Amino acid sequence: MSLSAQAIEDAKNEALSAIAGALDLDSLKEVKSAHAGDKSPISKANQQLGSLTPEERANFGKVIGQAKNQVAVALEERLKVLEAERDARVLIEERVDVSIPARRTIQGGLHPLTILTNEICDLFLGMGYRVAEGPELEAEWLNFDALNIPADHPARTMQDTFFVEPADSHLVLRTHTSPVQVRTMLEEKPPIYVICPGRTYRADELDATHTPVFSQVEGLVIDKGITMADLKGTLDHFARSIFGPDVKTRLRSSFFPFTEPSAEVDFFFNGRWIEWGGCGMVNPKVLIACGIDPEVYSGFAFGMGLERTLMVRHGITDMHDIVEGDARFSQNFGMGVK
Ligand code: PHE
Repeated sequence: MSLSAQAIEDAKNEALSAIAGALDLDSLKEVKSAHAGDKSPISKANQQLGSLTPEERANFGKVIGQAKNQVAVALEERLKVLEAERDARVLIEERVDVSIPARRTIQGGLHPLTILTNEICDLFLGMGYRVAEGPELEAEWLNFDALNIPADHPARTMQDTFFVEPADSHLVLRTHTSPVQVRTMLEEKPPIYVICPGRTYRADELDATHTPVFSQVEGLVIDKGITMADLKGTLDHFARSIFGPDVKTRLRSSFFPFTEPSAEVDFFFNGRWIEWGGCGMVNPKVLIACGIDPEVYSGFAFGMGLERTLMVRHGITDMHDIVEGDARFSQNFGMGVK
């Protein structure tokens, strides 16, 4: 561009009309770089000032300066207008309808068996017990021998044990939670107050009332002067807190190799007696096997199935519902839905 006042005036007017014609922020950005950027006519004119005489330089400098200024002001004003337009449009286009119902999603949650286990543990923790756990893959000796169940004892096959290969590993999938009693007594000195929830295994077919993988909870108390009255009182309190304040329990004499005397515990619920589990005074032979002097200490133990407890309490008629893990079943037990 040859340097003339007219040419500068033209370049300025072109810039102003381009600015006025920019209809959105993107085109204004292009207009800005074309008419106010380094390569714009006005900038180029500015670069030519150096080759002029001082007088001409002062003259053109002023004209160019004014033109640049006008263009800058016009850009600024147009920018404000277009930004305001965009903000107004966004408010409408991106409006959120807060009255639309939220989508309900299943949050996931605890299985009813876990909820029951926690409830039982809380109850016994409140009475000063400790929660003890043991492995599901258990030493045969702890699952049977230490509990006074010798190799040829019918209870050993009666319990339909899952033995683990190789046979000389002497490992079984524990058939009850009672080996946790033994582990606790071998590790700790009395007084012992423990509650042991856990998964147990017996070779049963899965049907409406049986499952090969089930859960038990075991209680064990070893202290000085513990009697069967303590056992009965504990079971009464346990039953009432699980099934309701009016529930009664009864003991029927029975046999377990690891308790003497032994009993079945039943509870009276909805008009009938229901078998709940086994219990008894810890057999002195078991105390001796665990290094506890039966002349000084005595104790009781009890064990019951959690699936059965849950089924009776909630009127569940099919074991499949408990083991299959369908979220719709669990939801009925206070599982979170959001
Ligand atoms: N372990 C026994 C069973 O599974 C139940 C039981 C526990 C009996 C504790 C007495 C004492 O059948």
